[in-house]
Amino acid sequence: MKSVSLLEFKHYRYFKVSAFLMMVAIVAYSLDKPEPEPFGGTVLGYILGIAAALIVVFLLLYGVRKRLTPRIHASNKKNGLESSSQRATSTRATSHQNEGRYGGFTLQGWLSSHVYLGGTLIVLATLHTGFQFGLNVHTLSYLLMMLVIFSGFYGTYVYLYLPRLVTENMGGDTLESILLKIKDFDRFAEKRALQFSDEIIELVALSRQKTRIGGNFFQQLGGRQKNCPTSLAVQKLQGLGKGYSDDKLKSFHDLYAIMAHKETAVARARKDVKYKARLDFWLYFHAPLSIAFLVALVAHITAILFYW
Ligand code: HEM
Ligand code: HEM
Repeated sequence: MKSVSLLEFKHYRYFKVSAFLMMVAIVAYSLDKPEPEPFGGTVLGYILGIAAALIVVFLLLYGVRKRLTPRIHASNKKNGLESSSQRATSTRATSHQNEGRYGGFTLQGWLSSHVYLGGTLIVLATLHTGFQFGLNVHTLSYLLMMLVIFSGFYGTYVYLYLPRLVTENMGGDTLESILLKIKDFDRFAEKRALQFSDEIIELVALSRQKTRIGGNFFQQLGGRQKNCPTSLAVQKLQGLGKGYSDDKLKSFHDLYAIMAHKETAVARARKDVKYKARLDFWLYFHAPLSIAFLVALVAHITAILFYW
C-alpha cells in the first residue's frame, strides 16, 4: 500500500539519512563555541546554510522530476511496457504508485526523500541562523521555508490518509458508476412520481434538475449543497405518504426508497469529489510558496555575498 511505502520506503532509508544529518548538526552546534555568539556567518553557520540550500535545490528538483514522469509513461506505453498500476492514475495519490524510473530513482523514492529531507531543514536552517531573527529578507526566507515545510506536512498527511477514506467511501464503485446510478434513480423516480400529486412530481423533478455534485473548487471542497433538493425531497416525502390506499402506498414506499437511495449515492459522490479536491488543494500553497521561498533565498544569499 502506498501509505506504508512512502514513509517506510526501503526500510526507512531517508528517515535514517535525515535523522543522521540532524544529529550531526545538533552535536556540531552544541560543541561549537564561536565568538561572540553563533550566527549564520560563522564557519559552522556557513556549512549549515550551504547544506540547507543544497537540500532546497534537491527538493525543488522533485517538481521537475514529477513533470518528467508523463514522458516516461508515454515512452513506456509506446514500447508496450505500461503496467496496470501505471494506468491507475485517477488520483494524485495513486499516481505515485507508478514505478517510472529516472536516474535510478523511483518517483516514490523521490517523494520519500523529499518528505524526510524537507523536515531536516527545520533543524539545519534554524541552527544556521543561530536563532538570530529580525525584520529583514533573511528572516522572510526562513518564514517562507517554514510555511512550505508545514504545508508539506499537511500534504503528506492528506496523501497518507485520504486514499483510505476514498476507498472506504467508494467500495468497488467509481465516481462515474455512481453518477450513472443516480441517473437511473432519477429515471425510476420520475416514472413512479407520475401517479402522485403535483407536489410530489415537482419535488422529484427539482431533485433531478437542481442537485449539484461538484461545482467550483470551494463547493467541491465543502462537499455539500445548501438546501440540497434531493435531501429536501426525501424529507418532505416522509410527510406526504399518509392517506394512500394499500396499492398506492406500496408504490409510494418504492418511490421513497428510490429517493433515499439517490440521497445516499449523491452523498457518496460528493464525498469522493471532496476528497479528491483536498488531495489537490494544499499543493496550490506548497508549490507557489516553494517558488516564493526560492526567490527570497536567492535574495538572502545575494545580500550576504554582496553586502555582508
Ligand atoms: C535554507 C537556507 C537558508 C535559510 C532559511 C537562511 C536563513 C537565515 C536567517 C533567518 C539568518 C538570520 C538573519 C538575521 O540575523 O537577521 C541568516 C543569516 C545568515 N545566513 Fe542564511 N539562510 C540560508 C542559507 C544560507 C546560505 C546558503 C548562506 C551562504 C552562502 C547563508 C549565509 C548567511 C549569513 C552569512 C548569515 C549571517 C548574516 C548576518 O548576521 O548579518 N545562508 N540566514
Ligand atoms: C523548503 C522545503 C520544500 C520545498 C522547496 C518543496 C518543494 C516542492 C515542490 C517544488 C513540489 C512539487 C510540486 C508540484 O510540482 O506539483 C513539492 C511537492 C510535494 N512536497 Fe514539498 N517541498 C518542501 C518541503 C516539503 C516537506 C517538508 C514535505 C513533507 C513533510 C513536503 C511534501 C511534499 C509532497 C507530499 C508533495 C506532493 C507530491 C506530489 O504531488 O507528487 N515538501 N514540494
